[in-house]
Amino acid sequence: MRQMELKILSEGKVLSGDILKVGNFLNQQIDTDFLKSVADEIAKMFSDEGITKILTIESSGIALAIAAGMVMGVPVVFAKKHKSSNVDGEVYSTKVHSFTHGTDYNAVVSRDYLLQTDKVLLVDDFLASGNALKGLVELVAQAHAELAGAVVAIEKKYQGGGDALRDAGVRVEPLACIESMDEHEIRFCQL
Ligand code: G4P
Repeated sequence: MRQMELKILSEGKVLSGDILKVGNFLNQQIDTDFLKSVADEIAKMFSDEGITKILTIESSGIALAIAAGMVMGVPVVFAKKHKSSNVDGEVYSTKVHSFTHGTDYNAVVSRDYLLQTDKVLLVDDFLASGNALKGLVELVAQAHAELAGAVVAIEKKYQGGGDALRDAGVRVEPLACIESMDEHEIRFCQL
């Protein structure tokens, strides 16, 4: 079994409302030894791709993105979430619908930090309905940069976002892939 799956089984908690709580090691308290180890795994997956930049979105993806960036020796950029669409021309910006929160926001990144010459790896903690990653894909397209793919710590496959991205031609690599879950059992995807 993969290291992220083992960690979820030992420290994750399924809450009602279909939420997997991983605050103990990934998105509130950070297990730094574990993060280093998964960053090594990410670097290995994309070692032949000539990645020049990692792109994530605030806030919970930032820790994993930085860990990966440190191992891969590339800068990490995070898109900011703005409530209003009133953003200036110095930025790339796209509207994202948060399925979990039922709200919209704009994912915004300065044009200075995403270049046409970049080969970009997307990194995030959760992939559910996939709207956040779709927004990042759109920002890469606006910059005319090259997209290498996306790594997510945890894909909730049954929410469909990962497969929609794959159908659109994006290489999506989950470190753990959940087929189904409830308070009693977490089932991982058969690879
Ligand atoms: P999507 O990006 O895949 O479309 O998913 P969605 O809009 O549903 O996700 C909204 C937020 O909820 C995201 O964080 C996402 O990381 C988080 N999320 C989704 N499923 C789970 C889960 O099972 N457990 C946990 N802990 N989080 C989940 P966010 O609110 O946009 O921001 P942030 O937490 O990164 O600041």
